[in-house]
Amino acid sequence: MSRRILITGGAGFIGSHVVRRMVNHHPKDFIFNLDALTYAGNLMSLTDIQHLTNYQFIKADITDEARVLEIFRENDITHVVHLAAESHVDRSIHDPLSFIKTNVLGTANLLNAAKRFWNGNWENKKFYHISTDEVFGALGEEGMFSEQTPYNPHSPYSASKASSDHLVRAYFDTYGLPIVISNCSNNYGSHQFPEKLIPLVINNILQKKNIPIYGAGTNVRDWLWVEDHARAIELILDKGKLGETYCIGGNNEWKNIDLVHLICKITDELLGNPESNSVSLIQHVTDRLGHDHRYAIDASKLENELSWKPTQNFSQALKDTIQWYLSNQEWVNAVTTGEYQRFYQENYNN
Ligand code: NAD
Ligand code: TYD
Repeated sequence: MSRRILITGGAGFIGSHVVRRMVNHHPKDFIFNLDALTYAGNLMSLTDIQHLTNYQFIKADITDEARVLEIFRENDITHVVHLAAESHVDRSIHDPLSFIKTNVLGTANLLNAAKRFWNGNWENKKFYHISTDEVFGALGEEGMFSEQTPYNPHSPYSASKASSDHLVRAYFDTYGLPIVISNCSNNYGSHQFPEKLIPLVINNILQKKNIPIYGAGTNVRDWLWVEDHARAIELILDKGKLGETYCIGGNNEWKNIDLVHLICKITDELLGNPESNSVSLIQHVTDRLGHDHRYAIDASKLENELSWKPTQNFSQALKDTIQWYLSNQEWVNAVTTGEYQRFYQENYNN
């Protein structure tokens, strides 16, 4: 049976990769991309697929109750892949309420619309909520997060995502809404907004600006190529068991300082700069408040049950990613508008 899939946040970083994959791989399904086009959403990321007949963009805000229900009704939505969110930890420290509004209220609103529109007819329906490993809190030097790890979020961002995960699960337990959740580690790849570490470093090298490392730079993140995440999402939407959670990770842990050195090295090579040229831009700055020390994911459930594995060769995928930013400065310039400049001044001049 063909699906009528509502993807929220499809103009953002991960969402644009998911939309492209779903539109291209599933010509019999119809993909609706609902996005409010905040500072983080840009339709320039989807110009290559916007003409396809199984794709439609809908500009809307997930917190708008009447409009969201209308979108379900007008388009006979059968599946939801929910990515729309405020997604940047540093912004959540400056402005927690907008995270609570979009991530908590917006998710509750979508759940309600799905419940009302599907009205107990759960056959060929699925509400898939995309979340983060940050809901589990922070690890020490040992161990990994898994589906059994208790929630322990620390930032307003991760607390708002944790709340949304709980709401999604509550709609399964209380009403039987057919849900599935995944929690993923840090993504990298093309089309990521340059407020996040990897594109920020590349951008600052190009602009010969200081590269800010929070604290000592010893915090650890597990980096997953965005295409591997999008493939996991496609798989979980198809085959993920209702009511279940799946952890997704790259098995690819890096200390921030080591990763930044590697980005400097590759970028210098690609630009033809003398060796170690950009390393001199590194500047240790005041640490992020409540900075989680380490994230790492045990993705064995997804690997064993749905035969997913990350395909990335990190050094090659990182090089391709850096090359993408170097070759797509028009995209970077278009998204780093006045609003981003203001955020940068506020965040880094404190
Ligand atoms: P992003 O910030 O790049 O994109 C978010 C998108 O949501 C944007 O297109 C924005 O316009 C849209 N949006 C924001 N508020 C909205 C609203 N009220 N109504 C409709 N649309 C709205 O985010 P991303 O990095 O692509 O993350 C996508 C999802 O994946 C998020 O839910 C995030 O929590 C989760 N996630 C991200 C990562 C990561 O490393 N980036 C890792 C794990 C999970
Ligand atoms: P980020 O890309 O914001 O992702 P998250 O906070 O969701 O993990 O940051 C990745 C890591 O890099 C995190 O430990 C914070 C650190 N960081 C810096 O040291 N400097 C920066 O300018 C940024 C944006 C992040």
